[in-house]
Order: sequence, then structure tokens, then C-alpha cells
Amino acid sequence: MARSTVVIAAVVLAFLVAVPVPEVTAKKYLVGDKKFWNPNVNYAAWVQGKHFYLGDWLYFVFYRDQHNILEVSKTDYERCISNHPLRNYTRGAGRDIVPLNETRAYYLLDGRGGCFHGMKLSVTVETPPPPPPLM
Ligand SMILES: *[C@@H]1O[C@H](CO)[C@@H](O)[C@H](O)[C@H]1NC(C)=O
Ligand SMILES: *[C@@H]1O[C@H](CO)[C@@H](O)[C@H](O)[C@H]1NC(C)=O
Repeated sequence: MARSTVVIAAVVLAFLVAVPVPEVTAKKYLVGDKKFWNPNVNYAAWVQGKHFYLGDWLYFVFYRDQHNILEVSKTDYERCISNHPLRNYTRGAGRDIVPLNETRAYYLLDGRGGCFHGMKLSVTVETPPPPPPLM
């Protein structure tokens, strides 16, 4: 086998082993839907009625020169303070993924302008409901 084939096989295998069962039903949410991660979008309304489960993903699409995506504490979130983020999810392409891999609240905001025109989003991640019983 070519070396690259071995590497690819190893990566695929690692991926298969690492992915827990609930991941099968994991959802990837495009934040803001067609409005993406932009100023003047009501993200509180976007969150309404949605359930976020362990293993789901948030997908942020935005102008990379203007915005970013940072995780902050609840207090900083409420005050729109981005000076000491807990985590920086920005990778530079304007397309960033936030894996919801812990059952807790996530407080996310645009750090470039400190919640620039409402660019803040908080989600609470729940344990997935049990699968339906087998017939
Ligand atoms: C976040 O990470 C990106 C990519 O490494 C970096 O360019 C950017 O400066 C970081 N932003 C903050 C606020 O740490
Ligand atoms: C969740 O994902 C983040 C970012 O990829 C990672 O740093 C962290 O260790 C993960 N937490 C768990 C519990 O896997």
C-alpha cells in the first residue's frame, strides 16, 4: 500500500472509532440560517424552539475581515466583553465550527465589535433523548 493510503486508512479508522453512537444523529446548525453570522440578526429568536444536543455543531459563516467567533463567560456575554475569551473558534476563513461537545451553556459573541449590532448567541446543550425503542 502507498504511504498516503495507509495514512488515510488510519485517519478514517481513528474517526470511526472516535465517533460515539449519538453522533449519528448529530445536527449541524447553520447559525442565522440564510442571514448567517451578521449584524442585526435576532439570534435569540433564531435559538427559540431549537434543542441542541451533545454532539451537535454550530456552523458560523461570516465576513472574515469583519467578525469572529469567541466563547466568553456568562458575565462577559451579558456585558458584551470580549477581552478575555474562554475560547477562540476563529480559524481565519470566515467559516467556523463550534462543536457542542459538553452539556452546558455556551456563550458566544462577535469579538470584533463586542456583540456588534446584536451578534451574540447563547445555547444550552442537552443530553440527547434516548432513541425510540426497537419494535
Ligand atoms: C483567534 O484565532 C485566530 C486564528 O488563530 C487569530 O487570527 C485571531 O487573532 C484570534 N482572535 C482572538 C481574539 O484571540
Ligand atoms: C470540545 O471541543 C473543544 C474544541 O474542539 C475541545 O477543546 C474540548 O477539549 C472538547 N471537549 C470535550 C469534552 O471533548
